[in-house]
Amino acid sequence: MCGIFGYIGRRSDAAGLVVEGLKNLEYRGYDSWGTAWKTEKGISVRKDIGKISSVKSADFTDETSIAIAHTRWATHGGVTKQNAHPHLSCDENIAVVHNGIVENYDALRNELKAKGHRFLSQTDTEIIPHLIEEEMKSTKDFAAAVRSACQRLKGRFGILAMHAASQTLVAARAGSPLIVGVQKGKTKTSPVEGYYIASDIPAFLEHTRTVQYLDDGEMVVTDGKSILFSDIVSGRERPKREVEISWSMEQAVKGQYEHFMLKEIMDQKESVARAVNQDEEQIKTLAKAIREAQGTFIVGCGTAGKACMAAEYFFSVIAQHHVNFAPASEFKLHHHFLKPESLLIVVSQSGETADVLEAMHIAKSKGAKVLAVVNVEGSTISREADYTLRINAGPERAVASTKALTGQLAVFLLIAYALAGKLQDGKTLLLETAAEINDMLNPRYVERIRSLAENIKTARDVFIIGKSWNYPMALESAIKIQEVSYVHAEGFAGGELKHGPIALIEEGTPCIALVGKDEVMDDIISNTIELKARGAQIIGISPVKHDVFDEWIKVPNAGNAQALVNIIPVQVLAYFLAVTRGKNPDMPRNLAKSVTVK
Ligand code: M6R
Repeated sequence: MCGIFGYIGRRSDAAGLVVEGLKNLEYRGYDSWGTAWKTEKGISVRKDIGKISSVKSADFTDETSIAIAHTRWATHGGVTKQNAHPHLSCDENIAVVHNGIVENYDALRNELKAKGHRFLSQTDTEIIPHLIEEEMKSTKDFAAAVRSACQRLKGRFGILAMHAASQTLVAARAGSPLIVGVQKGKTKTSPVEGYYIASDIPAFLEHTRTVQYLDDGEMVVTDGKSILFSDIVSGRERPKREVEISWSMEQAVKGQYEHFMLKEIMDQKESVARAVNQDEEQIKTLAKAIREAQGTFIVGCGTAGKACMAAEYFFSVIAQHHVNFAPASEFKLHHHFLKPESLLIVVSQSGETADVLEAMHIAKSKGAKVLAVVNVEGSTISREADYTLRINAGPERAVASTKALTGQLAVFLLIAYALAGKLQDGKTLLLETAAEINDMLNPRYVERIRSLAENIKTARDVFIIGKSWNYPMALESAIKIQEVSYVHAEGFAGGELKHGPIALIEEGTPCIALVGKDEVMDDIISNTIELKARGAQIIGISPVKHDVFDEWIKVPNAGNAQALVNIIPVQVLAYFLAVTRGKNPDMPRNLAKSVTVK
């Protein structure tokens, strides 16, 4: 869940370069940071607790062409300078940054201690440079020592390693993503200017869009002019093709906005239409695969999981087709129902979520096919799936997922319509909805929600209710409010209130009702009246006004796409609740954007 970034090449400002690039990975983890670079005297290291965004890259003035950097999301050991990466070997000649968890670190640490190695941190990572140092006693070759060390590691890792006496950068991957960015040279004599190796593309997006992906069990060795991919265990070369990615740097920066979260909420003016822009034949093929599968399961985590739950309703209501939803972390318990003829649909913005990957591996081990709905190009999930649909939301940097969710919902609506044999109807509805979202997100509308956030900022609890596809959106609303504003929020199916949750309502408790102009409107309004009768302050998000609402946030009447428009005002409300309470919505406490550990 940490961010890692390294550079080797013709540039002589590698230390400042990796620090600057690392700032684009801060969403990966933001409790501490560190960097190491090679100089004539050996390896220099700087690390500290706090946010990388406050570090000035101009302060790194040493001339160097090899550097690595890391932003940490603590797993083993507290947030201290000692625990920040890079970690060094005893002789301080080897520096390593690491993403993932070394499961057998305790045994390895004891073994290395017995051989005289000294450890300065509580991290699992620190055993890696010592293990490489130990291996170098027999091989002398740095890359070979990294290979042998990696073979002894259990768990998940993505590592970058450098040696004071070697003009190479070595990286290895087992479960944690690593991508190589290739900076092309301008002449035939120097076809490559340098290589960037990172856990995520935004680290090097301003330098190159030409990438090569490491797969699990692979390592790379590069001297900055050429690169060799090989299998960690056998050492056999693994040929790689170069891929041009479509993301642009403009999409990955905040621009005029104070926070990525608000920028990404506003991006929905265009991103929904981009999600709808799919190859129609592919959508029909996938609909056919779902129709013919003997059992379709759909899994995701957090917000992506709520998109899966909404999809269950879309398939049921629009296409009268049943699919089984489970949070990805619970899927293990359902594997008995998988057959080679079954289909697993996995949903993930990052395409790297560990629980989702595990669900995929379970399905594959049963011979079932996997359809992935992802945002990040070239992500592990997208490359391992049998079929992949991209939602084309562009980079989502804020920890709170917003535009990825509406992209996922749009794609599932499209498939549901295709399944019902009405793809064009679905497309028309979604494109109209996309245009209405564009109109809805105007400055006056946003300001109205900002002042509502101001009014409820001292509330202890916020409850959200919905029915049908607005029920998963109520659950998603709660996630949005919880994660960025730290206000206690809970979502419920409206009909469930009188079975317990209604006891929580007190005079003035803000309660949000997500309403559509549909067959369940009367039911959800009745549930809202029940809340009002207990003193709740009712915020109605609805295409139609009702007397029960104390505050009415108008949304377009989007029919079967209502979930998509109803969630957007809640995203805006959550954002302003965070800001008005003095919290940074882009960096919520205890969270990281990509959850690559289980
Ligand atoms: O990258 P993924 O979509 O697989 O991530 C899944 C969840 O971790 C993610 O949706 C999380 O719940 C969001 N931060 C919530 O806004």
